[in-house]
Amino acid sequence: MSKNFDVVVIGAGPGGYIAAIRAAQLGLQVACIDEWSTPEGKPAPGGTCTNVGCIPSKALLQSSEHFDHAGHAFAEHGIQVKGLAIDVAQMLQRKDKVVKQNNEGILYLFKKNKVTFFHGRGAFAGGSAGAWQIQVSGKTADVLTAKHVVIATGSNPRALSDVPFDNKLVLDNAGALAINETPKKLGVIGAGVIGLEMGSVWRRLGAEVTVLEALPAFLGAVDEQVAKEALKVFTKQGLAIHTGVKVGRITAKKNVTVEYTDSAGAAQTLTVDKLIVSIGRVPNTTGLNGAAVGLKTDERGFVVVDGDCKTSLGNVWAVGDVVRGPMLAHKAEEEGVAVAERIAGKHGHVDFNTVPWVIYTSPEIAWVGKTEQQLKQEGVKYRSGSFPFMANGRARALGDTTGFVKCLADEKTDRILGVHIIGPMASELIAEAVVAMEFGAASEDIAMICHAHPSLSEAMKEAALAVDNRTLNL
Ligand code: FAD
Ligand code: NAI
Repeated sequence: MSKNFDVVVIGAGPGGYIAAIRAAQLGLQVACIDEWSTPEGKPAPGGTCTNVGCIPSKALLQSSEHFDHAGHAFAEHGIQVKGLAIDVAQMLQRKDKVVKQNNEGILYLFKKNKVTFFHGRGAFAGGSAGAWQIQVSGKTADVLTAKHVVIATGSNPRALSDVPFDNKLVLDNAGALAINETPKKLGVIGAGVIGLEMGSVWRRLGAEVTVLEALPAFLGAVDEQVAKEALKVFTKQGLAIHTGVKVGRITAKKNVTVEYTDSAGAAQTLTVDKLIVSIGRVPNTTGLNGAAVGLKTDERGFVVVDGDCKTSLGNVWAVGDVVRGPMLAHKAEEEGVAVAERIAGKHGHVDFNTVPWVIYTSPEIAWVGKTEQQLKQEGVKYRSGSFPFMANGRARALGDTTGFVKCLADEKTDRILGVHIIGPMASELIAEAVVAMEFGAASEDIAMICHAHPSLSEAMKEAALAVDNRTLNL
């Protein structure tokens, strides 16, 4: 087998495997190296996203939502459920099966696109622009030569400085996705995306969940009106969310005790069976040997790249969580495609202004573009239109009327500047707003488009109509 490649991609998460596939589609000889293994030691490409991130968390969110509906929503539909119980082992097995299907899907895609896959760790072993040597250490040891290298090594969970993860009592994301029985009391440090998604899973299954957040504001990056509504709903669901806390000593023995100061300055103690620490993630360049070849990283450990994902080294690129920007799978994928196209002499492009965010709680939260607070801070004059799901026929039929859609448009030009949704299927609804913004649409454009009835998407149309004070159904 030839060990000379046009492109060697290190890491097969969403950034890396997509870059490898696109580069191969463009006619380049491509290798992709990834070290993630199944418990049996087999390759498990897909990175954090597939193995301990997006996919398994959504699998558990789905299972726990079914359980919650069976327990709380079915009766209203006249469906009686007797002897409702959750089999956590079966739920985890299903999640593992979904993960495995995705791992196998990626291996299949590599084969189909003629990407040579190496299972092991990739590290710079020398060379220079146009002829980099990459050492693969796995079951076999190979040295590959690459004209271009794409670093897509992702990120790791950030631990509290004096409390290491043991994934028995103090859990990172991997541990949070593998809890094998519903804890009576669950603590979560960090009311960010992971904290809220995983907190929701275990709350729905019956755990008493307490979330401790350092910042005074809940979901500070989210549009304030949405964050306010979310806090109200999550609190009603039973998540005890405390913001503005200062976490102190944590003791993990039989259970976990968290000493903290609350927002009023009073000393508090929380005792829980398990503690999820979800306080952000750090870029991962472990074992890459980048420093030896002069790869520049910043003070926080991110690989330094320019707007085109070029690193400080010739013909070395970096994408995804290991570089600046939001740590999102679809952002990593877009960068992966753009880099592959640039390597092939085409014009790759990523529009950071239209990267959507989704929090898969119930209700879901999704947004794209600017929040009202950002627009105010930037002195941009805008008009805002909102529409509640309460007034949407499909939402009423679904029995899921929480939340609203909000559309923000430039006061003069009417160009859409941001769309914020909290409500059913927000993750799907936001796509329309992304398309609209990518095409430079005005709110009037959405308002004038025919939307199917009855559908949740009509709430988007109505929010756009509301920008011009002409909602029809409210
Ligand atoms: P990763 O997915 O981290 O992949 C990096 C890969 O590189 C890994 O397989 C790693 O083993 C491998 N690797 C690292 N170093 C080497 C080396 N030297 N040699 C060989 N292999 C190496 N994002 C969303 O958009 N939507 C979601 O719903 C979502 N949910 C999430 C839920 C959780 C619990 C978590 C933790 C994250 C979630 N994310 C979500 C974020 C998403 O997982 C990341 O943004 C995404 O995985 C980043 O992709 P990546 O390719 O940059 O890195
Ligand atoms: P996060 O950045 O979303 O949230 C971390 C939270 O912890 C913040 O609110 C922060 O203020 C708080 N915090 C930090 N230090 C603290 C401390 N010492 N005490 C108390 N609170 C503290 O990070 P999270 O949830 O760990 O997720 C990491 C990343 O993974 C996300 O930023 C996101 O990019 C990605 N992700 C995306 C998902 C999605 O798209 N649906 C789902 C899950 C993760």
